[in-house]
Amino acid sequence: MIVFDQVSKEYNMGAVKVTALDEVSLRIAPGEFVAVLGPSGSGKSTLMNLIGCLDTPSHGSYMLDGEPVGRLKRKELAAIRNRKIGFVFQNFNLLAYATAVENVELPMIYGKVSTGERKRRAKELLEIVGLGKRGSHRPSELSGGERQRVAIARSLANQPEIILADEPTGNLDSKSGGEIVDLFGNLHTQGKTLIIVTHDDRIAAHCKRVIRLLDGKIDSDTLNSAAPVN
Ligand SMILES: Nc1ncnc2c1ncn2[C@@H]1O[C@H](COP(=O)(O)OP(=O)(O)O)[C@@H](O)[C@H]1O
Ligand SMILES: [Mg+2]
Repeated sequence: MIVFDQVSKEYNMGAVKVTALDEVSLRIAPGEFVAVLGPSGSGKSTLMNLIGCLDTPSHGSYMLDGEPVGRLKRKELAAIRNRKIGFVFQNFNLLAYATAVENVELPMIYGKVSTGERKRRAKELLEIVGLGKRGSHRPSELSGGERQRVAIARSLANQPEIILADEPTGNLDSKSGGEIVDLFGNLHTQGKTLIIVTHDDRIAAHCKRVIRLLDGKIDSDTLNSAAPVN
């Protein structure tokens, strides 16, 4: 369970203070499928960085499964991230010189999984995202949609409860974007908590809940009754 209580995030830019998130209160229950929308600069990525324990609030409290994230040290944050959260980014963030299998293995290295088990699981995850035959390819040898599927496989490596995706289809053509949307739908069916920042109407249409940000505040938080039942 994700619980934000009046969370603010400020960035100090020399003499100027930017309030990227402004006293946001929010609860997201396990298994929810949430779209985060809002214009550029409204605080979407800041919200995701905080939820993902990549950063901590300037004010307010964030409790993740009952743990006060704001009080954790860097190492503890990293450990929580590795165990509980999978990340998917707009530009895939794959290692260019590593194969698909090696990219998917990465989070497991930190998670202290044995080499054999790592390889086995990485191949299995690539199978799940439809890239079973591409394990030895490097990112430059894969299409954008395939790269994003490798990134999704990587995000699942340590069996996290929560998947955070920041504009995951932003750099994809409509067909590969559609495949990514379907993959997220499957993950939701499997009970993962999914939080997706998107401009993509197809993703938003799949999500059960739509949160709109404006100027660092929640502008609206609505249930999408038209979302497919699964
Ligand atoms: N690391 C940072 N340092 C300074 N300002 C930042 C930083 N990250 C974001 N901001 C500012 O915070 C606001 C929200 O940014 P962001 O969360 O990236 O919005 P979005 O993802 O919705 O485009 C913007 O005004 C942005 O310029
Ligand atoms: Mg952003």
